[in-house]
Amino acid sequence: MKNVVILDHPLVSHKITLLRDKNTNSKQFRELVEEISMLITYESLRNLPTEEIEVETPICKTRSKVIAGKDIAIVPILRAGLGMTSGILALLPTAKVGHIGLYRDHETLEPHEYYCKLPEDIAERDVILLDPMLATGGSASAAVNFLKQRGVQHIKLMSILAAPEGIERVTREHPDLLVYVACVDEKLNEHGYIVPGLGDAGDRLFGTK
Ligand code: PRP
Ligand code: URA
Repeated sequence: MKNVVILDHPLVSHKITLLRDKNTNSKQFRELVEEISMLITYESLRNLPTEEIEVETPICKTRSKVIAGKDIAIVPILRAGLGMTSGILALLPTAKVGHIGLYRDHETLEPHEYYCKLPEDIAERDVILLDPMLATGGSASAAVNFLKQRGVQHIKLMSILAAPEGIERVTREHPDLLVYVACVDEKLNEHGYIVPGLGDAGDRLFGTK
C-alpha cells in the first residue's frame, strides 16, 4: 500500500500481544503503549534530515550529525492518543504538543470535535498525529482535515492497531498522508471495534471501565 508502513518487528509483535491480553492492567497497558510508540517513532523518523555541526570530543574536533529541517509538532487525538505522547516526547523532547479532542458517536461511529488547541506556528511545522486505534478511520481523517485547514502541509499518522477499513479510508481521503501502523488486524465488528483488537484503548489506558 502506497504511503502505508506496517512495522513488522518481533519486539513490536511481542508487545502488541501483551496489549491485546484482557488481563493486562492499565499500568502495564500504558507502559506498553509508550514503548511501542517509541519503536514506531524510530521507524517513522528514519528519513529525518540531518546536518553536520562541529563538536569537540575529549580526543579531537570533528563534524557530526544533528537533526535538521522543519520543527515538529506532536498532536495526540484525545483521549487515547495521549498514551502515545510521552514515548514520542522522550525521543523528540523539543517538539511542541497540540491536542485535538474527538469522540466517536456510539450509534453513527462519526467523530465529534470537543477540543482543539494547537501550537500557534502549527502551519510551519511537520506534524505527527497520534491515535493508537485506526478503526473506521473517521477520527484520524477528521483530525487531518483540522490540521490541513490550519495550513499544515506534512502529516504523519502513527497508530498501533488498524483495521483494513480505516487504512483504506484515511489513504483515500488523504492520499498525501503517511501512515505508520504497528499492526493491521482482520476487520471491524458491527460496533466499529477492531477484531481481534485490544478493546477500547482509552478505557484501558485510563481505567475508565
Ligand atoms: C477511539 C480511538 C480513536 C477512535 C478510532 O476513540 O481512540 O480516536 O476511537 O475510531 P475511528 O477510526 O472509527 O474513528 P473514542 O471515540 O473511543 O474516544 P476516547 O479515545 O476518548 O476513548
Ligand atoms: N476505538 C478503540 O478504542 N478500539 C477499537 O477497537 C475501535 C475504536
